[in-house]
Amino acid sequence: MSIILGLESSCDDSAAALVTSDRRIQAQTVVGQAQAHQPYGGVVPEIAARAHVEILPALIEQVLNEARMSIGEVDAVAATAGPGLIGGVMVALLAGKGLALAAGKPLIAVNHLEGHALSPRLADPDLDFPYMLLLVSGGHCQLLEVRGVGDYSRLATTIDDAAGEAFDKAAKLLGLGYPGGPAIEELAEGGDAGAVPLPRPLVGSNEPHFSFAGLKSAVQRAVASGEYRREDIAAAFQQAVVDCLVDRTRLALESSEAPALVIAGGVAANDAIRAALADLAARESRRFSVPPGWLCTDNAAMIAWAGAERFAAGLCDDLDVPARARWPLDFSAEKVRGAGIKA
Ligand code: KG4
Ligand code: ZN
Repeated sequence: MSIILGLESSCDDSAAALVTSDRRIQAQTVVGQAQAHQPYGGVVPEIAARAHVEILPALIEQVLNEARMSIGEVDAVAATAGPGLIGGVMVALLAGKGLALAAGKPLIAVNHLEGHALSPRLADPDLDFPYMLLLVSGGHCQLLEVRGVGDYSRLATTIDDAAGEAFDKAAKLLGLGYPGGPAIEELAEGGDAGAVPLPRPLVGSNEPHFSFAGLKSAVQRAVASGEYRREDIAAAFQQAVVDCLVDRTRLALESSEAPALVIAGGVAANDAIRAALADLAARESRRFSVPPGWLCTDNAAMIAWAGAERFAAGLCDDLDVPARARWPLDFSAEKVRGAGIKA
């Protein structure tokens, strides 16, 4: 049994966690910065980086205290090394390097996307490789076949916006705060999804990818028309995203024998999306797994867990490992039209 300290600061959440190789979360804490970014309607990279510098050290102290441990008792330090906002990424990575150096512990540089990709295995001990993963977050929307630790094959990605980005932009158009996903989900509860006609980009297409830009523009027109209730627009938007995710995932499953369908990333916290993908898995005779909501949105338990999986595989890093703004899970995946800016 090993115990890993995980550190995360790649976007607007500062987080630290202690997780064991037998899936016990000894302590974990996340401090979000939503309020600091709220006036801007999105994450301001420099504000985020400065806040991580101020917040992260206290979180490290807090999890060690909660677990009644000293840094000398952990087996390795795992820190997110990308992809993300580079100023923020550097904070956890450098904190991790400093701790590893001072305590003489191995450092594990974790790809944030691998943190999301492996997080379902922390919550679900029976989830074995391979599995089909729908990774839906603020920066990414991908379908990946997860074959093992560090072994990913990307089947689809977005040609424009990520799923979470679409929620955030639609929320802004509806005058809701940031992050938009939870706000839209709440507003949609009182709405009628059938009351507003919205497109389902790429649904039915043989092209494997996702697209959400046209949906956002349609929301913009629906809001501007003044014809619809805000809760109906929110419900219709959420249903359109659900339909896109289900259709694209169904297509990917056609070319995969993976016995399980898994969703992860912040957008996987959405109950309508969880329910629709669970239905799809049942129809396609695949096992379904999704982590609890708190493990879907950014946290350090998933970074510690990815660290534990990499540590068990002997995958540690040197102290000169770089911070990366872009870091795809599947380097061999072709760039797709319009997606050059995504990791
Ligand atoms: O994984 P995450 O916390 O950070 C990134 O790595 O990007 O994902 C954040 C994204 C945001 O776009 C947020 O609006 C979305 O996840 N999100 C949701 C929900 N909770 C968070 N989207 C839809 N429904 C939710 N309940
Ligand atoms: Zn994330």
